[in-house]
Amino acid sequence: MLFTEQNNRMICENLARNEDGELCFAGMPLSPLARQYGTPLYLYDEARVRERCRTYLVAVKEAFHGRAKVLYASKAASFRRLYEIMREEGMGIDVVSCGEIYTAHAAGFPLEKAYFHSNNKTDADVAYAMEHGVGYFVVDNAEELYAIDRIAAERGTTQKVLLRLTPGIDPHTYAAVSTGKVDSKFGSAIETGQAEEMVRLALSLPRVELRGFHCHVGSQVFDSDVYLRAADVMLSFVAHVAETHGYTAAELDIGGGYGVRYIEEQPTIDIAANIAEVGRFMTARAAELGIALPEVAFEPGRSIVADAGLTLYTVGTVKRIPGYKTYVSVDGGMTDNPRFALYGSPYTILPVAGEVPEDCELCSVVGRCCESGDILQEGVSMPAGIGRGDLLACLTTGAYHYSMASNYNRIPRPPVVMLRDGESYVAVRRETPEHLAALDV
Ligand code: LLP
Repeated sequence: MLFTEQNNRMICENLARNEDGELCFAGMPLSPLARQYGTPLYLYDEARVRERCRTYLVAVKEAFHGRAKVLYASKAASFRRLYEIMREEGMGIDVVSCGEIYTAHAAGFPLEKAYFHSNNKTDADVAYAMEHGVGYFVVDNAEELYAIDRIAAERGTTQKVLLRLTPGIDPHTYAAVSTGKVDSKFGSAIETGQAEEMVRLALSLPRVELRGFHCHVGSQVFDSDVYLRAADVMLSFVAHVAETHGYTAAELDIGGGYGVRYIEEQPTIDIAANIAEVGRFMTARAAELGIALPEVAFEPGRSIVADAGLTLYTVGTVKRIPGYKTYVSVDGGMTDNPRFALYGSPYTILPVAGEVPEDCELCSVVGRCCESGDILQEGVSMPAGIGRGDLLACLTTGAYHYSMASNYNRIPRPPVVMLRDGESYVAVRRETPEHLAALDV
């Protein structure tokens, strides 16, 4: 049988086929894992997560001479074991809700290294975060500044903050994840003068300690120029504020967003080279502007965990509509991966048992929700004999999958199993119908 490379894309380094042709992830064949834990199943390669953290940490250390931070944007994947790993690797974190704060706290993560985001923090959120000792608030708007000042006064503390600003940069990614433009729901725009008003207000509030500024232009960004343009706007703002308000920013967080490879056509970003370029640019630009370079922070989410993840499914119904299309239904779908339904995101889906022959069939891989939009991917090459009981692996599912999973149709969420040194362990147990009904009264 002929096999084409195109149909058998080993897009990640932690993926291979063994001598029997079976797909292996993090050095482990996948069918025994499916037998042990059932499907659908989220798998994480622990070594890969750690390696990605280290890549970032070493890169920023070199590029900024030790004066830089890496914060894992935990919205990408949030569960206790991951926060433990972040703690062990010496990462900071970005949190966006009391749920993430609670989970990080439960993992023993030192919350003074946490940055609390969100465009709409309630008073209860503000108090909860302060109670848990969250180090920094990334403040979106004036109302939030007033709430922080008031609640900090009630608690007899002061709160370190960064102001989230919109630099007016279009990152050319999909609309739902583009956040740096002037009309974004996030942050205060530099262009409209609102950013400067926020600085004035923050400096006037006694319980607010202004540490600096933040921006995040978007997600799944491949164009490194985007970061340079954002850094340029932000540094110019730092210089402007130093001149007009005599305020020197100590920190500048330039957000996350580096893209990852879901399909072979997408490039693999060299994180170290990109950060080195950003480091050179920012150092030179700060010198030109005559300001000290603030301590720089990066906030990667996707590029830390995405290719450390893989989802395993079992095929059920295969429906052929002659002259139209073939549906391969799996035992998961938009409840464990809503990203095709939401963004049309491309994925690589491979059969576990063996390579796809040249003589293959193009299929739509779909889920089991009562909704036609419950599609994981269209135009997937599958062996013509694909059928009930076969295992499929969807690659690059470590980011924004478990964290975006839902219980639509009362479907329980899959477990999260970690792979380490040829062994596996459960990080999140499989949900059951009883868990789902537990809160019903
Ligand atoms: N910092 C801030 C303030 C953010 O809003 C985000 C992502 C990040 C950092 C991390 O960005 P990353 O490195 O992961 O690209 N659900 C969408 C992605 C939403 C991203 C939201 N913000 C998806 O599945 O593509």
